[in-house]
Amino acid sequence: MASPSASLLVGQGSGGVTIQVNGKSVDVQSAADTPLLYVLRDELGLHGPRFGCGLGQCGACTVHVGDRAVRSCVVAVSDVAGPVTTLEGLGSGGQLHPVQQAFINEQAAQCGYCTNGMIMQSIILLNNNPSPSDADIRQGLANNLCRCGSHLAVIRAVQGAAAVSA
Ligand code: FES
Ligand code: FES
Repeated sequence: MASPSASLLVGQGSGGVTIQVNGKSVDVQSAADTPLLYVLRDELGLHGPRFGCGLGQCGACTVHVGDRAVRSCVVAVSDVAGPVTTLEGLGSGGQLHPVQQAFINEQAAQCGYCTNGMIMQSIILLNNNPSPSDADIRQGLANNLCRCGSHLAVIRAVQGAAAVSA
């Protein structure tokens, strides 16, 4: 059964479902069982979240639903139970989110394919633990895969973002 917040945010749009994405209400045209990732990328043109494994295992597709990090490849759009924020919806007033800026400062990417997920997961990590230890960061990002070996720079970026917010 849908939660009260879900019933407020997920309704029947012209395509069957209405969701909130980056502060805007969207009537989804795709079928209700379409993965949220496909709706974001293919219908809404939001290419921050990436398709990696499609199995909920790599983290490349991570978005925020409310205050949670969610793997959008394995969530049907009709099951979205809160406002969605993508990489494109971070920051405000023309400023990048501090975690985005920290990733740039540390050049914490090589190919960049994992970077969306690393940033989105790191924001939730820092929301829940504003002063994480190295071990906390490693554990918090343990299920975000990077083929390029950018992990040490990513850890520095999260440390940098934590320091800015302290
Ligand atoms: S593409 Fe969603 S977890 Fe890998
Ligand atoms: S920077 Fe290439 S997969 Fe992480």
